Amino acid sequence: RGTARVIDGKATASRVLEWVTARASELERAGTRPGIAVVIVGDDPASKVYVASKARAAEACGFHSITHRLPDATAQADLLALVGQLNGDPAIHGILVQLPLPGQLDASRVIGAISPEKDIDGFHALNAGRLWSGGGSDAFVPCTPAGAMLLIEQVHGRELAGLEAVVVGRSNIVGKPMAALLLAANATVAVAHSRTRDLREVCRRADILVAAVGRPRLIEGDWIKPGATVIDVGINRVEAPELGDGRTKLVGDVDYAAAVDVAGAATPVPGGVGPMTIAMLMANTLASAARSVG
Ligand code: GUN
Repeated sequence: RGTARVIDGKATASRVLEWVTARASELERAGTRPGIAVVIVGDDPASKVYVASKARAAEACGFHSITHRLPDATAQADLLALVGQLNGDPAIHGILVQLPLPGQLDASRVIGAISPEKDIDGFHALNAGRLWSGGGSDAFVPCTPAGAMLLIEQVHGRELAGLEAVVVGRSNIVGKPMAALLLAANATVAVAHSRTRDLREVCRRADILVAAVGRPRLIEGDWIKPGATVIDVGINRVEAPELGDGRTKLVGDVDYAAAVDVAGAATPVPGGVGPMTIAMLMANTLASAARSVG
C-alpha cells in the first residue's frame, strides 16, 4: 500500500526555472532582456493569485515584467487596444491574458488578437494548429500540458509507443493540447469527458491517466489500472472539516490517498503539475525572446 512513486513537480519546476534564469541572463548580456506582459481583467480571486505568482516568477527569472490590471467592466475595444499596443512593444516578448474573462468580453477574439509570435500561452489558433499538425519549432505549446509531459517523461522517457493514455477533460487550455502532445509521443490516446459513457472503465485502460476536469477527487482508486502513471491537473478548493472552523484546502481531480495504493507513479496536489505550469510559461517567454534575436 502507498507504494506509488511521487512525481515531484516542485523540484522539476525549480530545475526548469534555474535553466531559464541562466539563459535569460546570457540573453540580457547580449542585449535582449526577456519581457512579459500579464493582463488581468476584473478581480476573480483565483486569477489574482495566479497572476501574482506569474509576475513573481518572471521577476525571479530576471525578466522585464509588467502587469496590466483592468476593471471588470472593461470594453472589448479597450482590451483589444491594449493587446495591440503590447504586440507592437519591442520590450515585450510574451503576452498573457488571464482567463476566464468577464462575460462582456469575447475570449477567442482577444486571443486571436495576440500576435502568434508573442502567444506564450499557446492559445492562438495558429499555435493550436501548429501543435496538431506536427509542431514546427515555432509553435508555442500550452504551459500546463507541456509541464505535464515533462513529468510523464521522467517516468516513461520521451517515447510512449504502445502505451494507452487517457485524458479526462477536453478544454482548449489542457485536455485538447495534452492529447496532441501524447499523440506526438506515439501514445494511443483517448479523450474522455463529462458525456463519456462508463468513465471508470475508460480510465481503467490507461497506462497514463491525465485528469483535467476540475471535479474534486472524481477519480477513485478503482478507476486506476495497477501500476499506471497518474497526472492530476485539477486544483480544487474544498472544505476541510479536519482542519477546523471553516478552513479549506486544495485537492486534485484524483483521490490521491487512494491513487497511491494503486498507481505506479502519481503527482500530488499541490506540488505536482501546478508549479510546472509557471515554469513552462517562463520557458516559453525565454524562447520567444531568444527567437526575437534570431
Ligand atoms: N486560466 C487558467 N489557466 C490559465 C492559463 O494557463 N493561462 C491563462 N491565460 N489563463 C488561465
